[in-house]
Amino acid sequence: MIPIKTEAEVSKMRAACRIAADVLESLARFVQPGMSTYDLDQKGKSLIEGYGAKSACYDYKAGVRHYPAYTCISVNEEVVHGIGSKTRMIQPGDAVSLDICVMYDGFVGDNARTVLVGSTHPETARLVKETQTALGLGIQEARVGNRIGDISAAIQKHIQASGFSIVRDFVGHGVGRSMHEAPQIPNFGRPGVGPKLSAGMTLAIEPMVNMGTAAIEYAADGWTALTRDRKPSAHFEHTVLITPSGPEVLTISNL
Ligand code: MF3
Ligand code: CO
Repeated sequence: MIPIKTEAEVSKMRAACRIAADVLESLARFVQPGMSTYDLDQKGKSLIEGYGAKSACYDYKAGVRHYPAYTCISVNEEVVHGIGSKTRMIQPGDAVSLDICVMYDGFVGDNARTVLVGSTHPETARLVKETQTALGLGIQEARVGNRIGDISAAIQKHIQASGFSIVRDFVGHGVGRSMHEAPQIPNFGRPGVGPKLSAGMTLAIEPMVNMGTAAIEYAADGWTALTRDRKPSAHFEHTVLITPSGPEVLTISNL
């Protein structure tokens, strides 16, 4: 069952998503060469708490493992779920993926963005641009009467045309009272397939795209996903409300 949010629940989703977006915007502006990913995570924590919200990542449980950081900071070959480290320094040319997921007043807002630090290799810049474009195309399909597969296929089509690889090990998801609700939203699939979309659904759509192989593996921390070939990866995510008149992106910052 895919939860349909009431008007009151949608208001709370708007508030949580606005905070998630403002934190992401502030953190993106804060990224500088020379700081560690731990510094970024700590800044994220204090921004989140400054809004009276909580990290939805901290202590997140997958099986027996608890996520130990407040945000996900994934640099270059790190795909997602990067844990801030005092020894991983941001360098000019890096592609830094920031994923901010907050809980506020009982509801979760989730968004992510890859930030380029200084001047980057043109192919990395293209990877980031095409990933962001693919997210926009997926969002356009989040309409009443469409199916999840329409979102998936729009993302896949754009990424395949760009020559990059879609990560298949992670998917987008419904979001609301918890970070992960039904349905799963793969970034690959066929149009017209999967659950039907209705007004009041809130979906986190999040393509993760690798420059080289789609294959991933895990770092020794058990969380950080890495590209198997160590080439760069990019990640963009928005939380989107389906309305009778089309998709409404809730994770828009007012900063
Ligand atoms: N915000 C991410 C998502 O879209 C994941 C957070 S996973 C956690 O699912 F482990 F960090 F919590
Ligand atoms: Co998400």
